[in-house]
Amino acid sequence: MTMGKGGVGKTTVAAALALELASSGHRVHLTTTDPAAHLQFTLRGDIPGLRVSRIDPIAETLAYAKKVLAESGRDLDETGRALLEEDLRSPCTEEIAIFRAFARCVDEGNDGFVVIDTAPTGHTLLFLDAAEAYHRDVARNLSYIPDSVRRLLPQLRDANFTRIILVTLPEATPVHEAARLREDLQRAGITPYAWVINQSFCATGTQDPVLAERGALEWRYIAEVRDKLAQKLVLIPWQAEPPVGAEGLERLLGELAVR
Ligand SMILES: Nc1ncnc2c1ncn2[C@@H]1O[C@H](COP(=O)(O)OP(=O)(O)O)[C@@H](O)[C@H]1O
Ligand SMILES: [Mg+2]
Repeated sequence: MTMGKGGVGKTTVAAALALELASSGHRVHLTTTDPAAHLQFTLRGDIPGLRVSRIDPIAETLAYAKKVLAESGRDLDETGRALLEEDLRSPCTEEIAIFRAFARCVDEGNDGFVVIDTAPTGHTLLFLDAAEAYHRDVARNLSYIPDSVRRLLPQLRDANFTRIILVTLPEATPVHEAARLREDLQRAGITPYAWVINQSFCATGTQDPVLAERGALEWRYIAEVRDKLAQKLVLIPWQAEPPVGAEGLERLLGELAVR
């Protein structure tokens, strides 16, 4: 899964990873929680072995509320049911519904590759894990915990199962924001697998004096990530053409030394 601030290239990196895995003959599910969801546009068209989906908050919330009413509402009298319905109208319901959908996606990783565009922050994971338990106990909404939810944090903490890619830019603020995301993940017991520094000018080998000057300024941030923050680091050059669609992503993958 990719993680990072808005606009740094999470969706692009997730789509490129999914494409590369599918091209290598793996079964891949690429999924996003990004409301902008231009993922569909990024990888328009059919790529064998690749399934693309979006976690839709409204659909997830409706389905979850319906399930709770059917299961926990079954044996309640009219007052009990009304209370349960009111409880389900709380904003917490949507958070928990999305959390559960996310847990389901992660759990699918037992049957094939799942690439998740934009993982929740460590804070969100811990908060929702607690909220889920609280909701269950206090509101007695649910008689059981799905296995996917029970397994979620252990699976995210398992470096052999989950790989988090922290995406950032070679600039001061984005690097420091990403460092905070990393600390926050650490509090949830999760260590990122690798960092990606995207949209780098110095990685393009540009001859343009202005862009080369700009590229030279990137070095101290790249060095900071390499020396202090990342276990593995990949630098992605700025692309003259937007890295969109299978072709654009292929081009981007072709430029990466890791390939
Ligand atoms: N290496 C790159 N070079 C040029 N443009 C890029 C590069 N990586 C991403 N972009 C463009 O930058 C914008 C933001 O990327 P996106 O992957 O949507 O970021 P995020 O998902 O983190 O918000 C998109 O228009 C994307 O096509
Ligand atoms: Mg995105």
